[in-house]
Amino acid sequence: ENANLSLLFDRYKDKFTRFPNEKGWMGQNLYMYQGFWYSSENAFSIETMMALQDTFQAHSTDIYLATQPKSGTTWIKALVFAIVNRNRYKNDSSTNPLLITNPHKCVPFLEIEIVGKTPTYVHANTPRLFSTHIPYTALPQSILGSGCRLVYMCRNPKDVLVSWFHFSNKLNDKYHVQMTIDELFEVYSKGLMPYGPYWDHVKEYHKVSSEHPTRILFLTYEDMRKDTANKVKRLAEFLGYPFTEEEEAKGKVEEIVKLCSFENLKEVNKHGDFRKGVPNNSFFREGKVGGWNNDLTTEMSQILDDITKAKFHGLDISF
Ligand code: A3P
Repeated sequence: ENANLSLLFDRYKDKFTRFPNEKGWMGQNLYMYQGFWYSSENAFSIETMMALQDTFQAHSTDIYLATQPKSGTTWIKALVFAIVNRNRYKNDSSTNPLLITNPHKCVPFLEIEIVGKTPTYVHANTPRLFSTHIPYTALPQSILGSGCRLVYMCRNPKDVLVSWFHFSNKLNDKYHVQMTIDELFEVYSKGLMPYGPYWDHVKEYHKVSSEHPTRILFLTYEDMRKDTANKVKRLAEFLGYPFTEEEEAKGKVEEIVKLCSFENLKEVNKHGDFRKGVPNNSFFREGKVGGWNNDLTTEMSQILDDITKAKFHGLDISF
């Protein structure tokens, strides 16, 4: 299997090694492709994305969750899994996957369709649930053409940066290089992150969501935090799984909010590894809105605010 994979990837190597490249996150060489930076040689690589673009077949019933890393991917996976499967699993710790395992195991990344083994239940159940960090215009054509639904979640760029900082320094795999906040700030503000620049990623999804609101739902982490129950209802409607009056009366919405809460998931995931070098607990740190001010200087904050203001000018994106 690995041999096939490296043959597949070799096909793309000739191409992307000629793309513009610069050192970015973790000192990695990042490659610029269609306006975004990608790393190479792991599941979240430019090779994987190109292989997906060439081979992936979407189904019209699929649901995709798109985010940039550290924007609340784990949370939105848990919520969507819980909404869609609310009649399949009981809310008890012997059967409900969210009480046993990491939400990343419940909703796999699209990227593992190429580099890993997709859990069989993903293909056995309708709808298939996938998540991805791939920017909108780089998604496989079959996703764009299939008419399926997609949820995008973004988060205040300062909290994303600080979350990246703590997460990166918790990794213990071969990509691990300790970074200071100054070093990370430097590359982040230039957009030199996997799937960066942050701002362009958000802008693309925001644009298509305003053009196709029934296909693409645009959410922010901050709004979700402020009013989780109402957002969960909105999410369920959008996905075609609205709560009935009876379910609402029985407190089903609140049950899902609690099941997917930071506190609950952090407790479930306090031990074990998601994969080698990536502990389950690395996905649950503080879960706060505006926690960035413990790690960023006033100057860093000002620079990021200025970039955000300029890039999001005229768009109704607020955090
Ligand atoms: P912090 O590092 O600010 O605490 P991702 O899932 O995209 O990797 O993002 C991780 C961020 O989401 C972390 O932010 C993490 O604590 C937060 N998070 C994880 N699970 C959450 C949940 N159930 N509710 C709210 N925030 C959550």
